[in-house]
Amino acid sequence: TDVTDPLLAELLDLGLEAARRAGALLRDGRPDDLTVAKTKTSPIDVVTEMDIAAEKLITGFLAEHRPQDGFLGEEGASSPGTSGIRWVIDPLDGTVNYLYGRPTWAVSIAAERDGETVVGVVEAPMRGETYRAVLGGGAYAGERRLAARPSPELDQALVGTGFGYIQSRRAHQADVAQRVIPRVRDIRRGGSAAIDLCDVAAGRLDAYYERGLNPWDLAAGALIAREAGALTGGRPGEPESGELTLAASPGVFALLQELLEELGAWHD
Ligand code: IPD
Ligand code: CA
Ligand code: CA
Ligand code: CA
Repeated sequence: TDVTDPLLAELLDLGLEAARRAGALLRDGRPDDLTVAKTKTSPIDVVTEMDIAAEKLITGFLAEHRPQDGFLGEEGASSPGTSGIRWVIDPLDGTVNYLYGRPTWAVSIAAERDGETVVGVVEAPMRGETYRAVLGGGAYAGERRLAARPSPELDQALVGTGFGYIQSRRAHQADVAQRVIPRVRDIRRGGSAAIDLCDVAAGRLDAYYERGLNPWDLAAGALIAREAGALTGGRPGEPESGELTLAASPGVFALLQELLEELGAWHD
């Protein structure tokens, strides 16, 4: 990729290197007897020692190169910084898959400039793929330029989704999914929001939606999806957020957004 803005080029290089190192640590350093270190919002919302180690590696590496930048990381990194750049980090997206030795997990790193996502990197070591995007510069996996799938009819769309770990919301999320299923080709629950968004970017899904994401789950992947020509958003007229995150090929986006609005997908 040719990134003309030298600051964005630097942020991309640092994000790629931090993600590569964390991905290698997670892939090569996964203990055979890996267990849950603690739980967060509910007993199914788990954290392992490796989530924490990966976040330490990433923030340590980035802070060494850019000490003035801010951080927001799932495992606790939080500082405003003074440079106008903030790193938004999910050190291990797909912890439940990782815990069970399932391959669908990723490291997600985004850089924001004055609150706008300008760089996104999603490293998926078990796929051997690294997805990246710079604002206005397209999305890539290695040399391959990513492009969202040509839009099918909604009833021919393969739709990814996820269910948050806040247990009180899950029955309604299941209800929404149950009503989406008869309207589309099929649904998938991969277990990593960052990879779901990159799958929309790469044409491996027509669309993806989820209620209850945090900024670290979606920042990098949403930029990658947009730079691949997909549309992203939340409820009608809103940007993607914890309320609702939707990414889709342009021709499916509005119809799916309408359906999710009708089903109250953002409700608790
Ligand atoms: C989770 C994954 C999952 C999604 C959850 C997220 P984590 O992130 O992205 O696919 O359904 O909402 O919390 O906890 O594995 O980083
Ligand atoms: Ca988590
Ligand atoms: Ca996550
Ligand atoms: Ca995580």
